[in-house]
Amino acid sequence: MKTTYLFANWKMYLNRTESKTLALEFKKIAATMSPSVSMGVFPSALSFAEVQYMLGDAPVVLGAQYVYWVEKGGYTGEVSAQMYKEAGAMYALVGHSERRHLAGETNHMVRQKMEAALEAALIPVLCVGETQAEHDAGQALEVVEVQLRSALENLAVVANQPVLIVYEPVWAIGTGVSCDPTEVAQMHERVTAFAAALVPQAQIAVLYGGSVRPENVLAFLTQPLVAGVLVGAASVKLDSWLAITEAVSKQS
Ligand code: PGA
Repeated sequence: MKTTYLFANWKMYLNRTESKTLALEFKKIAATMSPSVSMGVFPSALSFAEVQYMLGDAPVVLGAQYVYWVEKGGYTGEVSAQMYKEAGAMYALVGHSERRHLAGETNHMVRQKMEAALEAALIPVLCVGETQAEHDAGQALEVVEVQLRSALENLAVVANQPVLIVYEPVWAIGTGVSCDPTEVAQMHERVTAFAAALVPQAQIAVLYGGSVRPENVLAFLTQPLVAGVLVGAASVKLDSWLAITEAVSKQS
């Protein structure tokens, strides 16, 4: 059975109370979903434990929005991959464009986080994508390949280790302007092939992210190599998340 990943990246949109309330709704929604859908939520570090508590035994996996690559020590403000693992996370976003562009995360730092996530037995969700200027200059593929090579080349990965990759064009994130599904399909073909050549022993699935909404989610998910979606703004409002999950349920 092919898994469809439906991942909610809550970013810094919700406070603790709002996170708890929405987690309870996610629990109700998850009970209605087909087992072929893997629903995941990436809450803020502060809400993580309570979201987990509210979800209880619901089939919703948890992920970290961000991990640091050192396990323990004098790193004020950081949270390590091991700490998230211990707290019950299954996934870790690595190299989200908001980290790359707002917090200056380099490809080298992204690589360290990939290694730390694997070391901590978290499944990395590697985000890649080009800026508007790079897109306009026809450099999207080149940029994404550099990001993939840096993150994945010679990575110590055991056979069948799941590695998720999200193609998220920077210009499509939080803008309401999503990428054309045909372009997404082409990019996914290249990303899938390129990543498989870099880590042939891994089990790779490639998701799309960037202004996913109820009205366009199926246009992405019906592309042959799109294994799921990472949703930001539309995942923090109950009505739009419900509409997305309903659209996917009808399809699966
Ligand atoms: P968006 O964010 O859905 O708000 O565009 C997606 C993401 O950043 O993962």
